[in-house]
Amino acid sequence: MSTGQLVLLDHGVAVLTAALWVAAGGVAAAGRTRLALWLAAAGVLAVAGRLVLVAVLADRGWWFVQEKVLLGVPLLVVTVAAAGVLAGRPLLRGRAPLPPGAVTALFAAGYAALAGFVVTYVGGYPLTWSVALFALAGVGGAVLVTAQALTPAPTAAGPAVSRRRFLAIAAGAAGAAGVGLAFVRAPSADAGGGVAAAHPAGHGTPVTDLRGATTPAAGGTVRPYTVTARTATVALTSGHEVDAWTYDGTLPGPPLTAVQGDLVEVTLRNEDVDEGVTIHWHGYDVACGEDGAPGTTQDVVGPGAEFGYRFRADQAGTFWYHTHQVSHVGVRRGLYGTLVVAPRDAAPEDVDLAVPVHTYDGVLAIGDDDGVLDQAAEPGASVRLRLLNTDSEPHRFGLAGTAFRLAAVDGRDLNGPGEVSERALRLPAGGRYDVVFTMPDGPVALTVDGEVRLRLGGGDDDPATSGWAELDPLHYGEPADVPFTLDTTFDRHFTMVLDRGAAMVDGRPAFAQTVNGRGHPSIPEQVVAEGDLVRFTVVNRSLETHPWHLHGHGVLVLARDGQAATGSPLWVDTFDVRPGEVWDVAFEAGNPGVWMNHCHNLPHADQGMMLRLRYDGVAAMAGGHGHAAH
Ligand code: C2O
Ligand code: CU
Repeated sequence: MSTGQLVLLDHGVAVLTAALWVAAGGVAAAGRTRLALWLAAAGVLAVAGRLVLVAVLADRGWWFVQEKVLLGVPLLVVTVAAAGVLAGRPLLRGRAPLPPGAVTALFAAGYAALAGFVVTYVGGYPLTWSVALFALAGVGGAVLVTAQALTPAPTAAGPAVSRRRFLAIAAGAAGAAGVGLAFVRAPSADAGGGVAAAHPAGHGTPVTDLRGATTPAAGGTVRPYTVTARTATVALTSGHEVDAWTYDGTLPGPPLTAVQGDLVEVTLRNEDVDEGVTIHWHGYDVACGEDGAPGTTQDVVGPGAEFGYRFRADQAGTFWYHTHQVSHVGVRRGLYGTLVVAPRDAAPEDVDLAVPVHTYDGVLAIGDDDGVLDQAAEPGASVRLRLLNTDSEPHRFGLAGTAFRLAAVDGRDLNGPGEVSERALRLPAGGRYDVVFTMPDGPVALTVDGEVRLRLGGGDDDPATSGWAELDPLHYGEPADVPFTLDTTFDRHFTMVLDRGAAMVDGRPAFAQTVNGRGHPSIPEQVVAEGDLVRFTVVNRSLETHPWHLHGHGVLVLARDGQAATGSPLWVDTFDVRPGEVWDVAFEAGNPGVWMNHCHNLPHADQGMMLRLRYDGVAAMAGGHGHAAH
C-alpha cells in the first residue's frame, strides 16, 4: 500500500475509533449496556488497527507519525486502558445502568481518539508543545463536562468534586499554556545543519545589484523584446471568451525565442493590470535581480510603470515565463508565455512545436486552441514537441502512433533516452518535457488527460491512452557522472514537510498549506553560503500533490521514497511530490541571491506554501515578503 493510502486509511480508522468509543459511552449512558459492550469491543479492535497502521507508517518515515507516536497513541492507549479498568467489569457483567465513572471513561477514550485525529489533521508535523497542551486541555475539559452532565456535583465537597476541581485546574492551565506558547515566534532562519549566517537578513549585497550580463556571448546577438501587460477579452478558437490578463493582448503571451549565447532584453510595461505584474523566468537560472519575484528581487510593476530584464541565454531548452504577482490569479488568467532557447551548435528539427497546456475557466487549451490542433508533418520528418504544463495541477500526456524519446526534462537534456511507446507522461505543474520522434508513415496523435488535442499528419482516430503505464523519469535513460549522490556529505540539509494545518498566513489564521507546520511568511528562511552543497528532503504528509519549485537553480534528483534514481541524471526545476512521497534532491549553491522556494500549485503557494532560500550576505528588497509576492 502506498504511504498516501496509509495516511488516508489512518485518518479513517482514527475517526472510526473516536466514533465507536463515543457511541459506546452514549449507549451506556442510555442504559444499553449490551450494545455498549459490543461497541467498546469494536473500539478496542479499532485501536489495535491504528497501532498497526502507525507502526507501518513509522517505517515509511518518522515525519508521517511523529505527532501520533508522541501524543495521539499514548493518549489513546492510556484512556482505553482506563476505560478497561473502570468499565470492563461492569460491561462484561451486563450491569445497567453503568456507574457514571465507567460511562465517563468510555467517552474519554473517544475524546482521546478524536483529539489525536485533530492533532494530526490540524496540527501536523512537527508536534509543538502548544498543540500538545491544547489537546490535553481539550480532552480534560470534555471529560469534565461529561462527568458533570452524568452526575451533577453534590453540594457537599466529596472526593469526586475535588478530583474534578483538580482536573478543571489542570485542563485550564494546559489550555492557557498552549495559547501562550502559540505566540512564541519561530526562529527566522534555518541553517540546515551548516554554519549560521554571518549576516542577518537584510544585510549585505542588495539583490537589486545582482543583474544579468550586458553582452551576448561570442557569436550571439541581442534579442530585444517589449512586452506589455494588459487586460483583454480574448476568444479561444472555439469562440469561448476569456476575461484575461495578458502579455501583449494574446493568450499566451508572445513566444520568446533565442539562440544559446544571445542576450535577451525584455522591457516589461504594465498598461492596466491594477494588481501589478512582473516576469519570472521559470527554470532559467538568471541572476537574482532578474528573477521577477516582487518584494524580494524587485518592486512590483504597477500600471504605467516598467521594468527591464536582461540575461544571457546560456541554457538551451524549453522554459516559460509568468508573472509572480498574485500569480495564483495572474498566471491562471493568462500572464504567461513560452521561452525557447535553441542550441547554437545543433541542427534544428523539421517540426519544432511548443505545446503549452493551460486551463481557462475550466477549458483546456494548447495556446489559445481549445479544440484539436493540426500540425503538418511529412513521413520521415524529425519532430520535437515541447510540452509545457502552465497549470497548477499535473497533466497526463499520451503520444499515439509512434515510438518516441523523452529528450529533455525541464529544459535539461537527458542522457541516452531510450525509445519507448505506449507510455504516458505525467507532467508536473510548471514542468516541461521535450518529446522527439521521427514522423512515421501514419498519423500521430497527442492526448492530454485522455483526449486528443494535437494531430500530426492528419488522422481522426481516438486512441485509448488512459491504460498506459507512466514513464518514470527516475528510471529512464543512461546513467552518467553526477556531482553528488545520497552518500555525499552535504554542507546543508533542509527537510520540508508539506501538509495542511492551522497556521498563520500573511498575518491571518488559516487552514493553510504548510511547510514544517508553518505558512508564509513565518516559515524560517533557508540560509546557504555560496559554494555549499545543499540537499533538500521534501516530504508530503498531505493528501494533495505538491509540485516543488526552487527559483534560480536546477536540482538533481537523488531519490524518491529512499530509492535512488537509476536512469539518466535528472535535473529539474519542478518535481511533483505526491501524497506520501519523500524526495531527495540536491544542488550546488552557485547563484547568489534570495530565491523563492515554493509549491507551484499556485493557490497552495498563496495559502502559505512558500519560503525563501537566502545566500548569506545577500539582502532582499527591504520590506519584502508582501502578501502578493508570489
Ligand atoms: Cu514558476 Cu515561483 O514560479
Ligand atoms: Cu502544493
